[in-house]
Amino acid sequence: MTGKEKDCVCPVERAGSLDSRIRRWFQNPRKILEPYVTEGMTVLDFGCGPGFFSIDMAYMVGPSGRVIAVDLQEGMLQILRDKILGTELEERITLHRCEELMVNIPREIDFALAFYMIHELPDQRSFFKEIAEALRPQGRLLVVEPPFHVSKEDFEETIQKAQGAGFVLVERPKVLLSKAALLEKSQWNYFVDFS
Ligand SMILES: C[S@@+](CC[C@H](N)C(=O)[O-])C[C@H]1O[C@@H](n2cnc3c(N)ncnc32)[C@H](O)[C@@H]1O
Repeated sequence: MTGKEKDCVCPVERAGSLDSRIRRWFQNPRKILEPYVTEGMTVLDFGCGPGFFSIDMAYMVGPSGRVIAVDLQEGMLQILRDKILGTELEERITLHRCEELMVNIPREIDFALAFYMIHELPDQRSFFKEIAEALRPQGRLLVVEPPFHVSKEDFEETIQKAQGAGFVLVERPKVLLSKAALLEKSQWNYFVDFS
């Protein structure tokens, strides 16, 4: 992790607040993901943290599907590993520790989630480019960002960077206490550098 990332990345000590019952009341993973995740899909939970979304995603894709849960911090992945140990989900969730931006994930993803994590990235353009490469044609990416850390302008800039990496903005779903965008990999998948 670089010095800049250390300052921005949500520490493992905050994992409990990300994984709380109270959060489930206002950000129910199944309700949020129901329109996008179906049985048999291969899905990516990028910046999965303690797996608040990964576990529900694993039930939603069922035994024939797969969840790839990626995080920068081993401490976050260990919390998720402990939760699924000895359960049916152990086979269904692949844990992957990425080294900074080297996501290095298989190129067969149907749906990707980046929940409350993009503002922690030092290089959003590279992230979108890598996710676009990993998604199947017309695969979708749901980006959700927190309301206070991320201004309206910053969020619009994030969407522009995604569009520069070949994503098309499909809709702006309503997610409580958040800014959200559903993006689809364009069939041409080009990369434009706006910098
Ligand atoms: C605020 S937490 C959100 C966790 C989870 N998505 C949720 O909503 O509960 C952000 C997570 O993104 C991870 N993260 C930050 N930068 C990352 C990167 N470059 N690659 C992978 N994960 C990263 C952090 O380690 C942290 O677990």
